[in-house]
Amino acid sequence: MATEKWVLMVTAQTPTNIAVIKYWGKRDETRILPVNDSISVTLDPDHLCTVTTVAVSPAFDRDRMWLNGKEISLSGSRYQNCLREIRSRAGDVEDKEKGIKIGKKDWEKLYLHIASHNNFPTAAGLASSAAGFACLVFSLAKLMNVEEDPSHLSAIARQGSGSACRSLFGGFVKWTMGSKEDGSDSVAVQLADEKHWDDLVIIIAVVSSRQKETSSTSGMRESVETSLLLQHRAKEVVPKRILQMEEAIKSRDFASFTQLTCTDSNQFHAVCLDTSPPIFYMNDTSHRIISLVEKWNRSEGTPQVAYTFDAGPNAVLIARNRKVAVQLLQGLLYYFPPKSDTDMKSYVVGDNSILKEAG
Ligand code: DP6
Repeated sequence: MATEKWVLMVTAQTPTNIAVIKYWGKRDETRILPVNDSISVTLDPDHLCTVTTVAVSPAFDRDRMWLNGKEISLSGSRYQNCLREIRSRAGDVEDKEKGIKIGKKDWEKLYLHIASHNNFPTAAGLASSAAGFACLVFSLAKLMNVEEDPSHLSAIARQGSGSACRSLFGGFVKWTMGSKEDGSDSVAVQLADEKHWDDLVIIIAVVSSRQKETSSTSGMRESVETSLLLQHRAKEVVPKRILQMEEAIKSRDFASFTQLTCTDSNQFHAVCLDTSPPIFYMNDTSHRIISLVEKWNRSEGTPQVAYTFDAGPNAVLIARNRKVAVQLLQGLLYYFPPKSDTDMKSYVVGDNSILKEAG
């Protein structure tokens, strides 16, 4: 390692993902191992993403991180687990132009600075932690020349936040719960790339950008402890639904896709209500959006739009094509004009797309 002062940096951009078959409940809290498989769609990185720059320099005296411009603590076990796992796989790095050579062993003595930005509300049920941890792990892996495939990296991102493992791929992604105690087989795999079903258009109706009252982490812990419906869902319902969803995606069967996506979202929120004390993530506006979509799908005779809601009131609406998306947006703007007496804030429109590396 050269003795003079230098800084080596990598910037990466990672989109968030939205589950169409939800992850809700852990069997191992420390390793973040889920009670069921889940399937998600990765969003267009230009609309909802995290951009992270990671830097290493002999001038740094400790690991530090800034999220949306504010310094945050890295002492929590989720950050520590990701940093440890990545450091243990670091390779040799050479930048001939700058005359920098870092050997495998040097990484143990070097500190990192990390700056991360979300272009969407943090912790408002828009899976900010998914994009955040995926981007952190991806950018560190680039900086440290970690030669692992995305599935192996997904097992590291999973230890930051479960849903993060699915953001290492574009398109449709499955997180396999795995059966090994050490979690090494609890990884994400790509089911279909972003070109496979590129008719789909995703609209996110930002009903509220406030931070949610119950975090996903504590909400799912309470559900695991108290909800009988969660046990039934994990053992009996999701395994069958995963197979059906894989088939629907493979054959681009929008009717089955919609039926499975909406039912699974509704069952996830039913589990939240079955939790003691009950957890309310959706609000009146969310319920009105569901009614609107259900009525529309029924009146058309064949489904046009699928809805799904994560741990918050914001609606993720998946239109079967652009024409439907335009009609949907017109309907939403008519019934829920932003900044009116409804609590609708804004709309974000995008296609599903692939993970992009920015630097
Ligand atoms: C409702 O991945 O945020 O979005 O693993 O505790 O960090 P932790 O939870 P997180 O939970 C996401 C839950 C969900 C469903 C999903 O994305 O599958």
